Amino acid sequence: MKVLLTGGAGLIGMALRQRLAADGHAVAAVDHTSHGRDDPALLRIDLADAAELQRLMEQHGTTAVVHCGAISGPMMARGRPLDIVATNITGTANVLEAARLAGVARVVFCSSISVYGNAGDVTLGEAMAAHPTSVYGASKTAGEQLVEAFAAEYGLDGVSLRIGRVYGQYRRGNCVIKSMIEDAAAGRETVIPCATDFLYHYVWQGDVSAAILAALSAKTLPSRVYNVGSGAALTMTQIVEIARPLIAGLRVRLVPGADDVSDVQTRFDISRIARELDFRPAYPLARGIAAYASALRERGAGAA
Ligand SMILES: NC(=O)c1ccc[n+]([C@@H]2O[C@H](COP(=O)([O-])OP(=O)(O)OC[C@H]3O[C@@H](n4cnc5c(N)ncnc54)[C@H](O)[C@@H]3O)[C@@H](O)[C@H]2O)c1
Repeated sequence: MKVLLTGGAGLIGMALRQRLAADGHAVAAVDHTSHGRDDPALLRIDLADAAELQRLMEQHGTTAVVHCGAISGPMMARGRPLDIVATNITGTANVLEAARLAGVARVVFCSSISVYGNAGDVTLGEAMAAHPTSVYGASKTAGEQLVEAFAAEYGLDGVSLRIGRVYGQYRRGNCVIKSMIEDAAAGRETVIPCATDFLYHYVWQGDVSAAILAALSAKTLPSRVYNVGSGAALTMTQIVEIARPLIAGLRVRLVPGADDVSDVQTRFDISRIARELDFRPAYPLARGIAAYASALRERGAGAA
């Protein structure tokens, strides 16, 4: 495949670039910044520039697009809802329009578990209505609907992946797993504000790459929306107990408080993507934390 990847300098994008290249695909990675890293392969294009995106897709002979570029969480641009709308909704429309005009065969859109909002004690299945509790969640819902509409109106074959809470290298937003690894390496205690019964749906970046590949490679797409997660919902106490034997010197103190994304989400059903696209996560939390810690050791301190 010849893949154009937006958000190529981000958490999911960096992992996916490696995975696509390792699998023999040609990747054009675009982003509006390299986040200060030396990254000569990265092409600088803003999601606002539909014409430039189209030009690159045509020049690269793009057969598939993965759209990771976004303001990537409710906590990333708090107080700037119109920026989220412009980047995530208009930006997604620009990517879809460029793909349509360039004759791209498949678009994979990174949506989010955030579309389900504060759902409570129910199982989150793709057939549920979206009830986002943030402009970010609403922007992901709108993105999904644009994917669906471009498919229905223009025949652009697209799919949205509702991804859980991703951890891994190059994450810039707050992440307790990253904090635990960094703090332990620096000899610091990690203090985590949380509610004891709050459930986290962490998924390793490599599993997200594998799910995206499954969506890219499927001959046909039986559905336009899939949940992507690890299959586990864990409390912070359980997460710390899993991490303890894997992170040398880990010291954690849980204090009363709330996560910065505090939607109550109990069970996240990942059976549709297993059934229809043959994707199953391979990294339970213990394996993901071990992979993360060893990747950080290889890259040196401060590289989370
Ligand atoms: N990280 C998570 O926990 C998570 C969970 C669910 C869904 N997602 C979605 O997955 C996708 C990738 O997330 P991520 O964690 O890699 O985020 P990230 O913030 O690490 O990467 C997103 C990239 O998009 C780029 N970008 C932002 N605005 C842009 C613009 N105007 N023009 C060009 N590039 C722009 C950023 O520079 C960044 O490198 C996003 O759509 C995000 O909403 C992420």
